[in-house]
Amino acid sequence: MSTQGAAGLRAGLIGLGSMGRHHARVLAGLEGVDFVGVVDPMGDKNGWAQGAPVLAEVDQLIELGVDYAVIACPTALHEEVGLKLAAAGVGALIEKPVADTVEGARKLVEAFESRGLVAGVGHIERCNPALRSLRLRLEAGELGDVYQVVTRRQGPFPHRIADVGVVKDLATHDIDLTGWVTGQRYTSIAARTVSKSGRAHEDMVSAVGQLSDGTMVNHLVNWLSPMKERFTSVTGERGCFIADTLTADLTFYSNAALATEWEALQAFRGVAEGDMIRYAIPKREPLLVEHELFRDAVLGKSDDICTLREGMRTVVVAAAVLESAASGVTVALDGADGTVPDGR
Ligand SMILES: NC(=O)c1ccc[n+]([C@@H]2O[C@H](COP(=O)([O-])OP(=O)(O)OC[C@H]3O[C@@H](n4cnc5c(N)ncnc54)[C@H](O)[C@@H]3O)[C@@H](O)[C@H]2O)c1
Repeated sequence: MSTQGAAGLRAGLIGLGSMGRHHARVLAGLEGVDFVGVVDPMGDKNGWAQGAPVLAEVDQLIELGVDYAVIACPTALHEEVGLKLAAAGVGALIEKPVADTVEGARKLVEAFESRGLVAGVGHIERCNPALRSLRLRLEAGELGDVYQVVTRRQGPFPHRIADVGVVKDLATHDIDLTGWVTGQRYTSIAARTVSKSGRAHEDMVSAVGQLSDGTMVNHLVNWLSPMKERFTSVTGERGCFIADTLTADLTFYSNAALATEWEALQAFRGVAEGDMIRYAIPKREPLLVEHELFRDAVLGKSDDICTLREGMRTVVVAAAVLESAASGVTVALDGADGTVPDGR
């Protein structure tokens, strides 16, 4: 159902919490889009709605007539809310992870795909300038063969309700960005988790995986560190890229083109240290870029979004991380379509 008028697309927001407030700010200023309403059963006690009417029910937003809605309510509710929007013919930009279970993610994929509706997942790291630049450089073959991707995403516990553990909440960023920057899929994953903060879910994970081209992957993710870190490195034939997605900096450490002659240094530092370049890249706000790309997808002008199917694959890998941590064994994933051989 398109309600697009002269002013542009009509968009709504579901969930006005710590992420939803940022969506409200961006939607309110987004060119070509009318921000028509927010749904939150708790109302707008913090004054974050940007003047949009605040509604208690998703049905009320649907009744207002919207082309799409951003889903930023707790992860465990994405499935229910998303299915309601799809049934009403409304597109959706669903916050990550797309759902808290593989089954839920699969139902969302079917609901939106079968109706031909535009839907995407807010894997915002794809809009980080450092990772966008990294992806282009890897695609252009600047690193030669890729050997390894390492991510570290560490920090203190977030002061908000967490209905899922750190694997589904945070490590899904790492799983998605790894597949996206390399253009590969996971073929296996092994992991260990610990739960130290007395909650029902894990709050620290260490995972080792493999991608379809043989690239080795390591993820260290937790809510138990006093410092905040968002680190991605990709090591390959010609050197190593390091992306810091907090500062949106991308640095390349190249292997040495010239052999080191000083023997003592050779022994100490190895022979491979070459030039280091920190790229000057334009730094636009990732959330604004995410919204612009999604709006353009709804308008049929672009397909540069994280699809629900890609979001589902990330949930499949996250489920395999938890399965491996529980069983102590490596879980095989079918790199061809992102599902394991038993069809999970
Ligand atoms: N992309 C990112 O970097 C990023 C960062 C933080 C959170 N998130 C995602 O955003 C989502 C929300 O996380 P958060 O940190 O904002 O949580 P939050 O707890 O701060 O906010 C959730 C909001 O949803 C509201 N809500 C509850 N039930 C609702 C319903 N039935 N309909 C509408 N609203 C409802 C709550 O009242 C609350 O205001 C999660 O899926 C999370 O994974 C993404």
